[in-house]
Amino acid sequence: MSLDELRAQCLNCKKCGLCETRTNVVFGTGNPASKVLFIGEGPGENEDLKGEPFVGRGGMLLDKMLAVVDLSRDKNIYIANMVKCRPPKNRDTEETEVAACRPWLEEQIRLIDPKIIVCLGRVSAIRFIDPNFKVTKEHGQFIEKDGRLVMGTFHPAAILRNPNQKPAAMEDFFALQEKIKEICPETYAE
Ligand code: URA
Repeated sequence: MSLDELRAQCLNCKKCGLCETRTNVVFGTGNPASKVLFIGEGPGENEDLKGEPFVGRGGMLLDKMLAVVDLSRDKNIYIANMVKCRPPKNRDTEETEVAACRPWLEEQIRLIDPKIIVCLGRVSAIRFIDPNFKVTKEHGQFIEKDGRLVMGTFHPAAILRNPNQKPAAMEDFFALQEKIKEICPETYAE
């Protein structure tokens, strides 16, 4: 199956109650051949309306930080979320919703086959890396998981709320740039 075929299936998903209230499924965006995958938590209002991840203020900040290290969703990375549909009024996602949605993410990972995965924010990191993950302590550290390198960093929305975190987050992006040059330099090929 191709990523486009998976997307087509996902757009019709009714595996949890979020299908009743969503405007759009937010499957993911970027270059399907990229070796670097970013995983956020789930769509907010702007993402639900547009059907694309990280398109609000947080998304603009994310795109700016990515550009500093020559990464772009239009070119050399892919961005997805743990949960593909917006919870009503942005309430926290429920475990049943996360569990119902997880196979879509797993299949995206299998098809994209990234070498590096970056979890954006605590919720993504505790669900994907380790239930005890502490962003303030463990951000920027690469660990191996199923043959891929995985790192957690600050969520753009958290940086907007607390701009003091931006330098630390930017350091993580520079560390990511170095790691990319080491293990998947084709990311930066013209
Ligand atoms: N926050 C997320 O975690 N993901 C999005 O797509 C938008 C905001």
